[in-house]
Amino acid sequence: MLAFAAGLAAGAAGGSAGAACVLSKKSAASKNAEKSPVRGQADLISGTEISKEVRKEVKEQVEQLQREHGCQPGLAVVIVGARDDSSRYVNMKKKAAAEVGFHSVDVALPETVTEAVLLAEVAKLNANPKVHGILVQLPLPKGIDEARVLREILVEKDVDGFSAANIGNLCLKDGSPPLAVPCTPAGCIELLQRSGVEVAGKDAVVIGRSNIVGMPVAALLQSMNATVTVCHSRTKDMKAKVQNADIVVAALGKAEFVRGDWLKPGCVVIDVGINTVPDASKKAGVRMVGDVCTEEAKAVASKITPVPGGVGPMTIAMLLKNTVNLARNSLVLPRVPLRKEANGVNH
Ligand code: GUN
Repeated sequence: MLAFAAGLAAGAAGGSAGAACVLSKKSAASKNAEKSPVRGQADLISGTEISKEVRKEVKEQVEQLQREHGCQPGLAVVIVGARDDSSRYVNMKKKAAAEVGFHSVDVALPETVTEAVLLAEVAKLNANPKVHGILVQLPLPKGIDEARVLREILVEKDVDGFSAANIGNLCLKDGSPPLAVPCTPAGCIELLQRSGVEVAGKDAVVIGRSNIVGMPVAALLQSMNATVTVCHSRTKDMKAKVQNADIVVAALGKAEFVRGDWLKPGCVVIDVGINTVPDASKKAGVRMVGDVCTEEAKAVASKITPVPGGVGPMTIAMLLKNTVNLARNSLVLPRVPLRKEANGVNH
């Protein structure tokens, strides 16, 4: 099982906030990297706004594919069981797919489904020419071999970019461009690029090494010429390593783990965490926080993603972008690139 479910996934639900980390009730910024009027307050990088831009671009690309090639990108979403978080995320993915004009195929299987039946469903989707991308929502119930199921998805339809071929190409220096890049990491890169953060030559620290976020985001940042340190549960003196970072990506799934005094003044913080902490003032009795103590971090960083409204909305936007890219690949059309280089080479 993946240790950390990112972006769309519930992180360390029920974790408790650090005692000194008192969060404000203000909502997220309403513009990209909204300028803070308060000195010593980081600009907010708004995933809500940036994801709208990406979704608008995707919708235009869908219209163009239809108009010029008679091709409607198709996305299949497979859910097994009825976990609340997974059901919520899958519904959001399906709604977003409909909004940009995709053909949608929904497969909902009971918690008790056998691995053989699930594999047969994936095989059917592999053979369906109207489906360009297949997403199997993770985690899968105990008893099903997740890696085996993911291996069944054809690389040409691997919309999550989780296959060995896509991850391998991402990690290889001068590898072929992956057909799809894992959605949450790709969203982190879009947030950095679209808010004017230069990555090349920077020291980046990624906290977390999951297959879904930490590992691929580290590979992406390195491919963009950052010097990357990956921290994890066995890292010694994590604080000292984070203090050296120009860019911090927190993806460990622990509520408000990274504190303000861990950060280098002026750094950029991308907070991937989605955690809930008890809050008696809320109707639901809980509120959502990231892996970073936002209030403390805002006083030190130059830019920071809010939670909610930061990385979360980008995961869906990048799923849409990946689906378009797989549809384009099926027509032997060039991909819409993710990484933009100062030298004009995009990949
Ligand atoms: N569960 C949490 N995040 C993801 C994701 O990006 N893709 C899939 N397939 N499952 C997830």
